[in-house]
Amino acid sequence: MKKSISSILLITMIILTKGTIHAQDQLIKPEIEEKIDSLLALMTLEEKAGQLNQHNGSWDFTGPVPEDNEYAEARARLLKNGGVGSLLNVVGADATYEAQKLAVENSRLGIPLIFGFDVIHGFKTIFPIPLAEASSWDVDAVQKSARVAAIEASAAGINWTFAPMVDVGRDARWGRVMEGSGEDPYLGSQMAVARVNGFQTSDLSDPSSIMATAKHFAGYGFSESGRDYNTVDVGINTLLNIILPPFEAAAKAGVGTFMNSFNDLNGIPANGDTYLQREILKEDWGFNGFIISDWGSIRQMINHGYSKDLRQSAYHAITSGNDMDMESEAYQMHLVELVESGEVDIEMVDEAVRRVLRMKFLLGLFDDPYKYSDEDREDRLIYNDENRAAARDVAKRSIVLLKNESELLPLSKETKQIAVIGHLANDKDSPLGNWRGRGESNSAVSLLEGIRNAVGSDVEVTYAEGYTMSETNGSFSSPLNFPKDDGAGFEEAINNAKEADVVIMVVGEKALQSGEGRSQVDISLKGRQLELFKEISAVNDNVVTVLMAGRPIIEPELYEGATTLLNTWHLGSEAGNAIADVVFGDYNPSGKLPMSIPRDVGQIPIYYNFRSPGRPSPGPGDAGSVFWSQYNDMDNSPQFIFGYGLSYTEFEYSNFEVSAETMTMSETVEVSVDVTNTGSVAGEEVVQFYIKDHFATAMRPVKELKGFEKVMLNPGETKSITFMVDWETLAYYAADEQFKAEPGMFSLMVGTNSNDLMITDLELTR
Ligand code: BGC
Repeated sequence: MKKSISSILLITMIILTKGTIHAQDQLIKPEIEEKIDSLLALMTLEEKAGQLNQHNGSWDFTGPVPEDNEYAEARARLLKNGGVGSLLNVVGADATYEAQKLAVENSRLGIPLIFGFDVIHGFKTIFPIPLAEASSWDVDAVQKSARVAAIEASAAGINWTFAPMVDVGRDARWGRVMEGSGEDPYLGSQMAVARVNGFQTSDLSDPSSIMATAKHFAGYGFSESGRDYNTVDVGINTLLNIILPPFEAAAKAGVGTFMNSFNDLNGIPANGDTYLQREILKEDWGFNGFIISDWGSIRQMINHGYSKDLRQSAYHAITSGNDMDMESEAYQMHLVELVESGEVDIEMVDEAVRRVLRMKFLLGLFDDPYKYSDEDREDRLIYNDENRAAARDVAKRSIVLLKNESELLPLSKETKQIAVIGHLANDKDSPLGNWRGRGESNSAVSLLEGIRNAVGSDVEVTYAEGYTMSETNGSFSSPLNFPKDDGAGFEEAINNAKEADVVIMVVGEKALQSGEGRSQVDISLKGRQLELFKEISAVNDNVVTVLMAGRPIIEPELYEGATTLLNTWHLGSEAGNAIADVVFGDYNPSGKLPMSIPRDVGQIPIYYNFRSPGRPSPGPGDAGSVFWSQYNDMDNSPQFIFGYGLSYTEFEYSNFEVSAETMTMSETVEVSVDVTNTGSVAGEEVVQFYIKDHFATAMRPVKELKGFEKVMLNPGETKSITFMVDWETLAYYAADEQFKAEPGMFSLMVGTNSNDLMITDLELTR
C-alpha cells in the first residue's frame, strides 16, 4: 500500500476526466501568493516556526493539560514575539481582540492570529448532534445549521472551526460516532459538503464565514474495538472506498484545513504519514489549505513507539506534511534546530508557512485583523430567536420514527392526561449533547417543557422521574458511575402511567456518555431504565417511547416491547419543542437512520454495505448446516437497518424504470421511480438509490448508496424521481488502486431504506 499511487491516480483522473478540484484551485490567488513571497522573505526562521505553532488559551482544555503551569505567561511572551500562529479555545469578541492585539501590535511583522474552536453542532444556539443531523438526510437543513453556527461563532471572534468530523463510523462503542454522519461514505460526503459550505460560504473573507476543518485524517472511525485513540488496521480497499471519500468531497468543496488523527494507520501514526498527507491529500487531491495535528498528537508519536523523542516527532510531522502543531510544542522547540542542522529542508517549512499565511490572507485578516471581534455583532447575532427557530427546524427533521404499530402517533392535543416519565424527560442539559461549544449547561428545552408548551391548559401533563441518572452536567468526569437506583421513583411513575391516557417515556443517555473519550463496551440502557419501561408498558397500552442518545443503543427488549418509538438522539437547544412538533403531528417525521442499530454488541462492526463472504448466510431459519457466515446464536441482521425510518403517512413506489439496459463508459442512463403519498397527511420521503457491482477486480459491497432525494408529497400526490447514472456513479478504487468503472453487470436499486428496494439490472460496456 506504500507504493506510490499518486501518479497512477493522476493519470486516471486525466483519462477518465474525474473532475479536478476546482474549489481548491480557487484558494490560489496570484496577488496573495506574491504577498506571501514578500512576507516569507522578511521572516526569520523563528518567526516561520511560530506560524506553525498553535496554542490553547488559558482555559477549556480538550486534551491533557500540559505540565508547565506557567504556560499562560510564557505564551503571552510568545505571542508578542511572533511565536504563535494560532490560538484555540480563546472565545469572545473581547478576548480575541486582546489576544490579536498582542500579536499584531507587538510582534515584529504583525502577522494576525487565527482563532480556532470546536464549533461542532452550533456555537451557543445548539443544533442536533451531527449524527442526528445526518438522520435528516436533508442537505439544506444541515448546511443551514453550519451557517448559523458560523454566524454566531464569527461574531464571537472565532474564524476557524474544527469541524466537520467526516470519519465514517461502524462501531457504536466508539463515543465519537455522535460527531460524525454514520456508516456510509456517500451520505457522509453529502453531509461533509453541506457543512463546509455552511461554515465557509463561497467567500472566506465574508465576516460571517469561518474556515472549516475536515477531520480526522484518516481512519479514526475504525479504532480497534471501538476504543478511542486505538490503533487502526484497514486494507487499501476500505481506505480508498469507505474512509477517504468524505474527505475527498470536503477537499473538493474547498475546505480550508484538514486535521489528522490520533490513531496510527497500519503502523504509521496518521500525523506522520507521508502517503496520506503528501501523496493523497496535497498531491492527488490538490489540497491548497493546511493540515493541523490533533491535540498533542505530534508528541504522542513517542507513545506510539514511532519516534524516540519530541525532536524526532517534529521531524516526522513536518516531513510527512503536517503543517501546524496543536499543543505539542514540537515545532516550537525543535523546528529551528532541525532546519539549521540540515535535517529538514527550509523549503518544506516555507511551504507549510505559505499554506497557513494563504488562509490568513483569504480570511481577510491582513486587511482587518479585528474584523471578527465585534461586540455589537456578538450582542445581536448570538442565541437570538431566529437562530433558535432554525435549531428547532433542523431538530424536528432529525427525528427518526422507528415504530408506530397502532398509529398512536401523532397524539391529539386534546388528549386529557399525559404522563411524562423518565429522568431524561426533565433534563435540560442532556439534549445539548457533547461538544456543545458555548452552549450553556441546562439551557435546552426539555421534553417535558416542550410537551407543556404545545398543549393548552385543559390538558393535564404529569411528570415523574421514575429511574435516576447521575448529574454530570458540563463536567468532564465519567458519567458511568451512576448512583445505585433504589427504585424509589418507580411507584409514582407507575401510578401516573395507570391514570394517564397516554404515557411519554424517555430513556437513553446523558450528554457526556458519548463523545470523545467515551467509548463503552456495553451500549445498552444504563441503570434501571429498561426495567421501568417494562413496568410502565404493563400498566398502559399507549406508551410513546422516546430514545434520546448520542449513539445507537442496543436494547432488543425495548425495541421489541415498544409499540411506538421515536429515536431523537441529542437534539440541541430546542429539543423539547422539536419532539413536541413530531409527537403532536405539527411535523411529520422524515428522518432515516444513518447508522445501523445492532441487536447485540457481538455483531459490531455491523453495516449494510458489507462485502459478501464466500459462504453467505442463507438467512434466518433453516440454514441446513452450520457452515455459513452467520452466528449460531443470533441473526446476522441488525435491529434496524441503515436508511430505515417511518412517517405518519405511507409512500408507494411504482413505475421503476431504467432508460437503457446497457451503457458505455461515455453514456448516461436515467433511473426513475414514481413515489406516491397514499396516506392522509402530507409528508417527506427520502428516496434512496443504491447500486451493486456484481463482480469486480476488487470485491464490491452487496449494495452501496449512490444517491438520495428528500421529497415532500401531499396526500394523493405522486412525484417522479430521477437518478442519473454515469461511469463515475459505478466507479471505485479497483484492485490496481485506480478510480475506474469496470465493465460488467450492475444492479440498480431504489427504495425507502437499504432493505426494501426495487431492483433492475444494467450492463456497463466499454
Ligand atoms: C479532538 C479534536 C478537537 C481538538 C481540539 C481533540 O482532542 O480529537 O477533534 O478538534 O481536541 O479541541
